[in-house]
Amino acid sequence: MIILRTVPELRAFVNGWKRVGGRIGLVPTMGYLHEGHLSLVDRLGPRCDKIITSIFVNPKQFAPGEDLDRYPRDFDRDEKLLAGRGVDALFYPANEVMYPAGFLTYVDVEKLGENLCGRSRPNHFRGVTTVVSKLFLLTKCDAAAFGQKDYQQARIIQRMVEDLNFDIEIVICPIVREPDGLAMSSRNVYLTHEERKNALGLHRALEDVRILYNSGERAASLLIRQMQTTFQSIPNLKIDYLDILDAGSLQSIGVLTGRSVAVIAAFVGKTRLIDNVILEAKG
Ligand code: PAF
Repeated sequence: MIILRTVPELRAFVNGWKRVGGRIGLVPTMGYLHEGHLSLVDRLGPRCDKIITSIFVNPKQFAPGEDLDRYPRDFDRDEKLLAGRGVDALFYPANEVMYPAGFLTYVDVEKLGENLCGRSRPNHFRGVTTVVSKLFLLTKCDAAAFGQKDYQQARIIQRMVEDLNFDIEIVICPIVREPDGLAMSSRNVYLTHEERKNALGLHRALEDVRILYNSGERAASLLIRQMQTTFQSIPNLKIDYLDILDAGSLQSIGVLTGRSVAVIAAFVGKTRLIDNVILEAKG
């Protein structure tokens, strides 16, 4: 696996691959990789000739006071994991490579980023769509993979790709969970032993709402109340948001008729975790 740190290095490789007609897959990450990230690599592997993974802790998607400085990093471990998974190139740019002096241009998807994480994390999605656009253009990728765990992010990127005519297949991959159900996240490393136990409340609330949905309940208010009840039975969790929305528009619904998503974000101590489940009638 080759490590590329600058734009000219990346371009030279990408252009070489393109000349021989290679299909390029991109897995954008902020590093501190876990099986969730690696499942994105595995998923793109068979669809692409070359896989590029990027590791860049993007300062533009962190609000002041968030965990940018203490965001976990372990480049050596990440490098080994990616090489072991057959990644061809690792793009690992410095801040000045992505945002040189004088940088002034942003990509902003309206509306879809106003609620949920967008409400509690000002400018977060603008930072995400800006860096992802840059990575799309730099890598000239034909496909890119994102995790369903960041459901709102995935929807916003799908919208952006459609609106801006990026000729890129967006592959959304299922949430990868720890054996007890906790969604994998680089931020899980912040949790103390006690917090780790309480963090399971997110998954439990989503499991309970899924069971109620599968039993035939379709009233959003009752399904939301179920999530709240489960959630409140677990100590030391503070809800940021908890909702059931149309899976496409991310707007509120009264009765679940089509594809919906139950979403949750909560503080476990100082750590903010998110999770979700798709609610969709089978058949
Ligand atoms: O999901 C993430 O890790 C980040 O938001 C992404 C897509 C790599 C952009 O920085």
